[in-house]
Amino acid sequence: MAASPENPSKNNRVIEWVDARFPLIETWNYHMGKYYTPKNFNIWYAFGVLAAVVLVIQLVTGIWLTMSYKPSAEEAFGSVEYIMRDVHWGWLIRYMHSTGASAFFIVVYLHMFRAMLYGSYKKPRELIWIIGMLIFLVLMAEAFMGYVLPWGQMSYWGAQVIIGLFGAIPLIGEQLVVWIQGDFMIADATLNRFFALHVVALPLVLVMLVFLHIVALHHVGSNNPDGIEIKEKKDKTGKPLDGIPFHPYFTVKDLMIIIGFLFFFALVVFFAPEMGGLFLEHPNFEPANPMVTPDHIAPVWYFAPFYAILRAVTFDIWFLDAKLLGVIAMFGSIILLFLLPWLDRCPVKSIRYRGNTYKAALAAFTVAFVMLTFLGTQPSTPLYTLLAQIGMFVYFAFFLLMPWYTANEKTKPLPKRVTKGSPLLSFPFSSSDRDS
Ligand code: HEM
Repeated sequence: MAASPENPSKNNRVIEWVDARFPLIETWNYHMGKYYTPKNFNIWYAFGVLAAVVLVIQLVTGIWLTMSYKPSAEEAFGSVEYIMRDVHWGWLIRYMHSTGASAFFIVVYLHMFRAMLYGSYKKPRELIWIIGMLIFLVLMAEAFMGYVLPWGQMSYWGAQVIIGLFGAIPLIGEQLVVWIQGDFMIADATLNRFFALHVVALPLVLVMLVFLHIVALHHVGSNNPDGIEIKEKKDKTGKPLDGIPFHPYFTVKDLMIIIGFLFFFALVVFFAPEMGGLFLEHPNFEPANPMVTPDHIAPVWYFAPFYAILRAVTFDIWFLDAKLLGVIAMFGSIILLFLLPWLDRCPVKSIRYRGNTYKAALAAFTVAFVMLTFLGTQPSTPLYTLLAQIGMFVYFAFFLLMPWYTANEKTKPLPKRVTKGSPLLSFPFSSSDRDS
């Protein structure tokens, strides 16, 4: 018998040899050849695999950058210039890495939004969501520390602002800042430890978390745009009727999407790697100077929504001053995301069958999030501060009122079987399939 997607070992003696000593075919079938994926996927289901592609790009280009980068306050800025001008293809590797950072967040934000559209964080996928949120936190720490490494003006002053936030914590704040910095100011010791964390510790944690994310996903199976469980309708052999083996069907479709994504990625790398100061901020082309503060210190766009929340708190409440309250609001806005599976009380997963209240709430939340992203990159003015306060109010209301407005939603009846997906990404159904 010839080799098949489900049994690639036939006639392949190397695979047979390994399989006798390691659960190769079993693992392959569990995750690929016999992993039944819902037939009705759409483009929203592409961002997980794209996140994995970007992760690989970041790991590979990061290793190459490390070969020429010098993690010292004296040499860091110069070594990045050296990579850009003298190292063969160094400019390409660096621009792939800097573009990859923004691409990571674009893809991950869309991936998270998909979960909010189709209720992918709901039972039995709460743990996939929690691991995803841990990935998000580590990703933010990874990006922050990476941004400090070129030791430009924004690296330095951005780090000053972010590390300074810990100073707002009562009693231990000041010592904590010194402990994080490894010095009384942001200096060589800070750069060194950020390098170690950015290059070794956090990538390891990230890869481990992504592994756990996929293991948890494959244990319960993927959700889909209809938000119904395909495992509940199986044929006589135990295969889900609305499922199709991940390999070769979705591997081929995913490959097509990856090629499309890489095309756009290359366009940015070759033609707009700075993205007008959004991906690489202009002050970062000047070496760090502790004596000169840039006119306007702004985080990179992907931190901006949370930074806007931090700055939106301009008032003291009782004994809590505005700075501490801002820090609490900023961390609170992330903690609320962790709690999403328990805040959402609606029994229906997909937005297709949910009531208008959730649709309106999600739309308002999306507008607020985009607005906060914009505001976080701008200098504060009275108008922008007011808008940020409105955005923050909507952001918190979306989560805090959720148990109430989702408990009484008017939902539509769910279909018994999944409905048609998008032509490019889903698979057709035969009539016999539909009858069973
Ligand atoms: C490095 C970052 C990440 C990678 C490589 C990754 C990878 C994946 C992959 C390959 C899938 C299956 C395909 C898909 O459904 O798109 C998936 C599903 C999922 N991911 Fe992620 N992910 C990442 C980050 C996150 C984050 C930050 C969250 C949320 C906080 C998250 C939440 C989920 C959920 C809930 C699912 C299940 C979706 C469903 O079945 O409908 N992921 N992830």
